[in-house]
Amino acid sequence: MRIRKAAVVGAGAMGGGIAYLFSAAGIPVTVKDVLPQQLDLAREHLKRVYQRRVDRGRLDADTMQESLERVSYALDYAAFGEVDLVIEAVPEDMRVKARVFRELGGVCPPHAILASNTSALSISEMGKASGRPQHVLGMHFFNPAHVMKLVEIIPGSATKDEVVNAVRALARRLGKEPVVVRECPGFLVNRVLMPYLNEAAICLQEGAASVPEVDAALGPDGFGWPMGPFTLMDMLGLDVCHHILAYLDAQYGERAQEAAVLRRLVGACRLGQKAGGGFYDHPGHARSEEVDRIVRELQASGQVDSPGSTFSVDRLVLALVNEAFLCLEEGIASGEEIDKACVAGLGMAVRLGGERVPMGPLTYAEHVGLEEVLGRLLHLERTLGRRFRPASVLTLEVAPGAESAAGDRGAGEAQC
Ligand code: 3HC
Repeated sequence: MRIRKAAVVGAGAMGGGIAYLFSAAGIPVTVKDVLPQQLDLAREHLKRVYQRRVDRGRLDADTMQESLERVSYALDYAAFGEVDLVIEAVPEDMRVKARVFRELGGVCPPHAILASNTSALSISEMGKASGRPQHVLGMHFFNPAHVMKLVEIIPGSATKDEVVNAVRALARRLGKEPVVVRECPGFLVNRVLMPYLNEAAICLQEGAASVPEVDAALGPDGFGWPMGPFTLMDMLGLDVCHHILAYLDAQYGERAQEAAVLRRLVGACRLGQKAGGGFYDHPGHARSEEVDRIVRELQASGQVDSPGSTFSVDRLVLALVNEAFLCLEEGIASGEEIDKACVAGLGMAVRLGGERVPMGPLTYAEHVGLEEVLGRLLHLERTLGRRFRPASVLTLEVAPGAESAAGDRGAGEAQC
């Protein structure tokens, strides 16, 4: 099915970025929100993105005008009777999303595809709410949506193959690289990213390293990521990271337990760049005295598991690598697709010989050596806890038969 008209529900940063992609690809799009001021923000966002392209000589002013005219803004569903596809991008609350999907099921034509840009929540549940689950799937974009190349496509339990194929073709038309992912909480990329970001926050609250130290160690001049984990969380929104981590915590337990400092910063309304402060003070990206004070308070109140622990790049990167192996083990995506998704969705790269080399987590593990990775994970598990317990597939790959020994050792530690 070819998509001729589209709509986006939710005019936040992601909704605005997605609307830009449709308009730039020549597809008329309606952006709907319940708040007029959100629609104004989205209008400004689109203009800014187009204007930058004009300023850099990548686009002429007439094309910008035509593209902007392809976008309409609405406070109701009047235009939805003619759309071929809708992308929902409202806040990460299943009650809100289920209500939107119920409404979409009532106003969209029977052939329309209903997609969710959810970061982690159940597509199948949204499908049920819509009353037409065969037409519902996840279409997950990455922030900034107009820059990052990946689109994760997540079929729900009832999604028809032709719907998946149509959305895959659409993603390519929008200039993106689609990767189809089996449904699970957090899907693929957020599932591997969040333990990495959370471990940065755990290092901070344990006094292992400061915010700028962690970012310098992981960023472009350190490990090789395009930006450090704290800069990334400030860009994504600490509230967004908190919602995803709280959900993963509920779904996966122990190994995804959210760092207390993240919860405290969200409670203090330090939500990141958009709020003028997160892990850094903004604008200016300066080290924050308030964050340092909150960390000291957490340590003094005994809410930190391993105060005085040692920082290492491995703590963050191997948390991500291990989760990637768990995804491989569960058949969430193939090894090749896991690597492709992390490079296209997160810009993952490794600094080698002075160059940043794009590289996904499984190739990185091969590069380090699987036996070495397993050894380092076992050391982290012994010193920092069971969240580092190596994936079975990694244990079996290195030493078939070693899994039961590792299991016995883990059980012993839990009893002590
Ligand atoms: N917020 C929003 N947009 C930003 C930004 C920020 N903090 N920083 C840069 N950008 C935009 C710029 O405006 C620019 O847009 P333009 O092309 O329209 O001018 C574009 O990114 C490129 O910016 P720069 O030229 O300054 O390029 P950089 O080389 O500094 O790259 C980056 C910026 C693309 C953001 C790069 O640092 C990067 O790839 N970072 C990793 C981002 C990432 O991991 N995203 C995925 C997060 S997970 C997610 O989104 C899932 C969700 O469910 C939580």
